[in-house]
Amino acid sequence: MTNLSDFISKLPKAELHLHLEGTLEPEMMLEKAKKNGIKLPYKSIEDARNAYRFKDLQSFLDLYYLGVSSLVDEQDFFDLAYAYFKKAASQNVRRAEVFFDPQAHTRRGVDFGTVIKGIHRAAVKAEDDFGISAGIIMSFLRDMPVSSAEETLEQALQYRSWIMGVGLDSKELGNPPSKFENVFKRASDEGFIAVAHAGEEAPAEYVWEAIKFLKVARIDHGYHMFEDQSLVIYVVHNRIPVTMCPLASVAVEYFKDIKDVPVKKAIDLGIIVSINSDDPAYFGGYINENYEAVAEALNLTFSEIKQITKNSFLSSFWSDKEKEKYIANVDKI
Ligand code: HPA
Ligand code: ZN
Repeated sequence: MTNLSDFISKLPKAELHLHLEGTLEPEMMLEKAKKNGIKLPYKSIEDARNAYRFKDLQSFLDLYYLGVSSLVDEQDFFDLAYAYFKKAASQNVRRAEVFFDPQAHTRRGVDFGTVIKGIHRAAVKAEDDFGISAGIIMSFLRDMPVSSAEETLEQALQYRSWIMGVGLDSKELGNPPSKFENVFKRASDEGFIAVAHAGEEAPAEYVWEAIKFLKVARIDHGYHMFEDQSLVIYVVHNRIPVTMCPLASVAVEYFKDIKDVPVKKAIDLGIIVSINSDDPAYFGGYINENYEAVAEALNLTFSEIKQITKNSFLSSFWSDKEKEKYIANVDKI
């Protein structure tokens, strides 16, 4: 182990941009597909991994939704989430605020309750077994009709205490945040915190919309915000955290090279930026691999790396007491 990877693995971290369905490794995907009698176009684990070459967000989403179809019963969702929490804890993630996509399951006939019961049970057991704290965020698929998001919110109310927030993901271009203003307003009235993928593949205007119409407490990806100086100033002044996912953004070709991912630029501008893994089963690395890739490519100092892990706790929706405790722990490393 190099000095750098040793240092990164020792640091306590929060992971704030992680899709549970994106942690479905080919091994589990094929095993579940076989058990559930689902046909997938992969002959082997290697065959599946070889298919994971993307040219844009949509080409990734196509395989992501295909993989998801192997998950059917509550135990499948438990196994998926528990495996992620176990892996994350092994990389010193102490707090994970994770997304799931209810509509990716309900639209193919799997009950909302089946999904959330499995995930919730995994979160509770993982906290017991590994001491990792979890927050669950349900994301609306922005390329589905608003009425479907409204139905999903309705279904979630029965499990209100298990779900911390609402998010917005899937195909961004052509599906601006303003489309979801009313359903986010309703979610806010019910006490859900709001986040949204914005400026991932769409222009800075979508980030403004997420702030103005959805009142987001955090921005996911946000790469296109740098096109608009006044937006950057707004994000800095209002201390709106931004979650970046370096390996993902290169895998879907937003950036040619990991050194182009604007993590250092964000730090230098005073943005509260964190590093996250997004869909690690598809993009070639969990959180530590993302930290390592960026730290190496951008020549980050140990103090800058520490700053990012402190940012991750600061950006989380954990209690102030826990945030302060872990930020102090980072300083002890
Ligand atoms: N962007 C949009 N939709 C997604 C993503 C993402 O990073 N991961 C899973 N669904
Ligand atoms: Zn994402």
